Amino acid sequence: MTLILGIESSCDETAAAVVAHGRAVRSSIIATQHELHEKYAGVVPEIASRAHLERITPVIEQALRAADCTLDDITAIAVGNRPGLVGSLLVGVSAAKALAWATNKPLIGIDHVRAHLYAALLTDDKTTNPPATVDQVYPALGLVVSGGHTNLYEVTSPLTSTLLGRTIDDAVGEAFDKAAVILGLGFPGGPAIDKAAQRGDAAAHRLPRSLLEADSLDFSYSGLKTALLYAVQGKPVGRGGDARFERSYEDLTDQQRDDMAASFQAAAIEPIIVKLQRAIEQLRSLGRAPRSLIIGGGVCANSLLRTRVLTLGASHDVHVLLPRMVYCLDNAAMIAGLAHHHYTDHHFDDLDLPAIATTAM
Ligand code: KG4
Ligand code: ZN
Repeated sequence: MTLILGIESSCDETAAAVVAHGRAVRSSIIATQHELHEKYAGVVPEIASRAHLERITPVIEQALRAADCTLDDITAIAVGNRPGLVGSLLVGVSAAKALAWATNKPLIGIDHVRAHLYAALLTDDKTTNPPATVDQVYPALGLVVSGGHTNLYEVTSPLTSTLLGRTIDDAVGEAFDKAAVILGLGFPGGPAIDKAAQRGDAAAHRLPRSLLEADSLDFSYSGLKTALLYAVQGKPVGRGGDARFERSYEDLTDQQRDDMAASFQAAAIEPIIVKLQRAIEQLRSLGRAPRSLIIGGGVCANSLLRTRVLTLGASHDVHVLLPRMVYCLDNAAMIAGLAHHHYTDHHFDDLDLPAIATTAM
């Protein structure tokens, strides 16, 4: 059995977790920094790295305590070392290296995006109906929808995936965050839009769905963002430095704002469902039908997306694996869980493991 300590600090959550044999979460501690970045309506890298520095040691200690174990019981130390904000990543990577060196345990660097693709396989005492074995899940179609990624993959094992499509401009989570700014709904935008949309009418405004070419598995969100901006603020009037919009979100009634949020959410989620369906059909026609659909990343906390993928899975006879809400957003349990498979394959890293801001897809 492995008992792996995972560390995650790629963006604005400082997290540590202990996971047994790659599946069972013994503890998962997440310290979010949302309150520090809220007034800037986005993550400020310098503030994020300083907050990680202050929080990393207490968060790791808490994860060990909550799992009722000590470093002596840990098999290996895993850390998300790519992709992310480099100053933020460095804090987690340095902590992991120090622990690996001091305890003489193996160090394992993990790709954050692949870890999101693994989060749905984690189990804890609140999990209902988990897949019995990891092998049962593959081959799978994988979708990572987060603040930085909108990626579709063909996944053949926890460690092997091929990119099928991705956003050609903004990520869907980024579009949610920007839409919330346009609507005056605060940061992070996803949960705020989700909540407002539940009170709104998605048919109130017809915003564009960007589907690209007929067989494309790529995504595009910049057109939707601009369409929402114009729907809320009207057209720009005047030129150069004098240009102004006709209105602002402050002119919307609460109902109008909720209707805009619902219309935006519907337009943002629909292309995801269309592309998932296309990908299932394309893989089937190639004789590589996916058994399951694995979703991960912050946007898979979205209530409309969750409902729509479950319906899609049922109509296409594909088993849908959605992480529990706590494992959708950035967390260290997904890092520790995926690291088990690196461990059993003897993929270890040296103490010169780098923090890497972007990775080849
Ligand atoms: O995976 P994550 O925690 O961080 C990244 O790796 O980017 O994802 C954060 C993103 C943010 O853009 C946030 O607005 C979005 O996930 N998000 C949501 C919801 N909850 C979080 N988007 C839509 N609906 C939600 N309920
Ligand atoms: Zn993430």
